[in-house]
Amino acid sequence: MTSCAQPKAEEPIVYSYVEEPHSYAKPNNAFIKHLKLDITVDFETEVISGKATYDIKNNNSTQIILDSKHLDIEAVSADGKETEFSLGAKDKQLGQPLTITIDKNTKQIEILYKTTKNTEALQWLKAQQTADKTNPFLFTQGQAILTRTWIPIQDSPQIRLTYEANVQVPKGLMAVMSAKNPKEKTENGLYHFKMQQPIPAYLIALAVGNFDYKAISDRTGVYAEKSMLNKVHDEFSDMEKMVTAAEQLYGDYAWEQFDVIVLPPSFPFGGMENPRLTFATPTVIAGDKSLTSLVAHELAHSWSGNLVTNATWNDFWLNEGFTVYFEMRIMEAVYGKERADMLALISRQDLDDELENLKDTPNATKLKLDLKGKNPDDGMNSIAYDKGYLLLRTLEETVGREKFDAFLKQYFKAHAFSTMTTDKFVTYLNTNLLEKNSVTFNTDEWINQPGIPKNQAIITSDKFKKVEQVLQEFITTDKINKDLTKDWTPQEWVHFIRNFPTTMTTDQMKDLDTAFNFTNTTNSYIQMVWYEQALNHDYHGNNVDAKMENFLTSVGRRWYVESLFKAFKRNDRMEDALKIYEKSRPNYHSVTAHTIDALLGYEPETEAALGN
Ligand code: BES
Ligand code: ZN
Repeated sequence: MTSCAQPKAEEPIVYSYVEEPHSYAKPNNAFIKHLKLDITVDFETEVISGKATYDIKNNNSTQIILDSKHLDIEAVSADGKETEFSLGAKDKQLGQPLTITIDKNTKQIEILYKTTKNTEALQWLKAQQTADKTNPFLFTQGQAILTRTWIPIQDSPQIRLTYEANVQVPKGLMAVMSAKNPKEKTENGLYHFKMQQPIPAYLIALAVGNFDYKAISDRTGVYAEKSMLNKVHDEFSDMEKMVTAAEQLYGDYAWEQFDVIVLPPSFPFGGMENPRLTFATPTVIAGDKSLTSLVAHELAHSWSGNLVTNATWNDFWLNEGFTVYFEMRIMEAVYGKERADMLALISRQDLDDELENLKDTPNATKLKLDLKGKNPDDGMNSIAYDKGYLLLRTLEETVGREKFDAFLKQYFKAHAFSTMTTDKFVTYLNTNLLEKNSVTFNTDEWINQPGIPKNQAIITSDKFKKVEQVLQEFITTDKINKDLTKDWTPQEWVHFIRNFPTTMTTDQMKDLDTAFNFTNTTNSYIQMVWYEQALNHDYHGNNVDAKMENFLTSVGRRWYVESLFKAFKRNDRMEDALKIYEKSRPNYHSVTAHTIDALLGYEPETEAALGN
């Protein structure tokens, strides 16, 4: 019977994976089910090294292919016996296919490997680059295709695996992963992790540093360096409320624990939705909870993205568009409609700005992307977020909230722990929402055509209307009435500043700065938009140029850094931009550096010139 053994019904061996432009893996032949890491994190040499053991499913293949980039592969074995392996031609974006010889019955493979200086996922930070300035720090960033630069892996969002890890770090430091985490440091620096739910490789994450844990509720809490722990705890104290609100909307939280770790300021994103443990930038710690929609966003990914995952990076809007929609709904549930309306209108304005940026490449404004041959990171823009949001909001308004919520709840439940293509979603939408309610909708136009269809939901905010009036009043009369602005939230200030007309004079900039001291604000979002306007309007008062430079050399959040360098470029300040960039680049993670290199036409001497 062995020659024609039937696969067990609950474990199909042949999966029909769709074509994946960003991974060399051929999962229809053989794929990874479980990963066990035994690794050492060495801050002296800035190398992670050790052993990766994989349980695999083999569909009669004689080889299994993994993704590898800038890794040093030392030895490979199959079921305990050394086996042949080869690394294929290097692709600048994708790295190399690592082809390993197996036989039909191989159950497990093992790889001894080391990371190298060129690793793009890891950022090794000196003590000086951290909040406490006492210990070094390391974090990983996997999305979109960087996990392969620190673990040999099948790096496709379609391939889900469970993992466990033994991680040895220097004594006195703590390690955390996107897994069940320690709440205290161990004496010997050895940490054990388990992620029992299957996740795609881009969600495997590790952070190592001198930080502590403080609980918010029995299933939420924060990790941060000592000098920030209490501030972070206060800022995020509504986390349990957010989880409860999210569960009431779209079903139970599937990951048991929801924690956030606040990383050093060079972290290249606002947040990253690593399961059980969101990674976040310290730039959202504003002191007044004004920027915590970021937590709602990363939490929302626990459904859209982590539970139901975009099948390929072309379907990225299924992750981000759904998440922005869900983020707004959480914010509305916890803080009310006024706050949610402001956030929705900011998203709408971001969308207009992005459409303007992309006016020469209209295909980049389609929801379904075509990123084949490109680094997905370069092709992912805010269309996925803001046009994706607008589509879902338009659908909500078309069918009514009650029906739309029931539909989304069912969508997450029906596809939990699996992947979704845009086409599959359209079919599901037609059957379960549109046809069911006899609604006709131009879904294809929204997804496959550039620009924004006419039937878009109209987004308004009463608060922002008042802001616009105040701005208008100032522009026409040059008078400032502080009574009208005294209760403004940072969102209102951002809206005010962002909407300065091009005709605004340097004197008017100076008057506003004198009245409101924008240059010295500590809110990172207001800093960003104000510095942008200083560049647009040639304003140099209040030492703003030095403040800007300081911001750019200490913060590595790509969205902020990119917006500012774009403003330098737009305003013919390339020389100043390059001068600052020479200084700031060593503090940036590779994803931020790569974006700014391309923007400014900067050619680094060697990859190792990066700070990581
Ligand atoms: N998953 C993204 C971050 C990301 C996207 C990393 C693409 C790599 C490739 C995360 O959820 C995100 O969207 N972060 C935003 C914040 C959010 C509030 C819009 C960010 O970093 O600004
Ligand atoms: Zn996101």
